[in-house]
Amino acid sequence: MNQLKELLVDELCDLLHAEGQLLTALPKMAEAAHHPKLREAFLNHLQQTEGQVERLKSAFELLGEKPQPKPCKAMAGLVAEGADTIKDGADKSNIAADLGLIAAAQRAEHYEISAYGTARSLARQIGEPKVATLLAQTLGEEESADFLLTELSKPLMQQATSEENSSESKITKARKQTA
Ligand SMILES: [Fe+2]
Repeated sequence: MNQLKELLVDELCDLLHAEGQLLTALPKMAEAAHHPKLREAFLNHLQQTEGQVERLKSAFELLGEKPQPKPCKAMAGLVAEGADTIKDGADKSNIAADLGLIAAAQRAEHYEISAYGTARSLARQIGEPKVATLLAQTLGEEESADFLLTELSKPLMQQATSEENSSESKITKARKQTA
């Protein structure tokens, strides 16, 4: 096998393991989410992830290689951090807990965006356009998921800010009344 193909197959083995870990992590993220739209986003991405695993398997088939997951330590770390975020969220407000979940999920998305981008370029370079197309499809889904998470975070951040401002103005009012 030439060097670039070997590298591509290696990247795909890593991604297969990374996606497998997300299949277990996403339902937990969905369960922990308070905002219904965030929960829905995690559940939708879970469904997408199932399709992404199938796409990876098709890519292996096109390359004539066996889909063998290679332990992805980076995703294991991100998933472990996500589990800590879920735990920490129990002591936080719903908004703060959700923003923590979004931050953890976006880290995982960015890892995948990077990995799929590289894999797609490698597939193009070695003259495997069908594999490149499959990887580009998944890359597009990961980018949309990341974009959606940013959009979901905006109103939550605004709400958190206005809640903080209103509780501060209540404190100021109370101080004025007692003065
Ligand atoms: Fe994915």
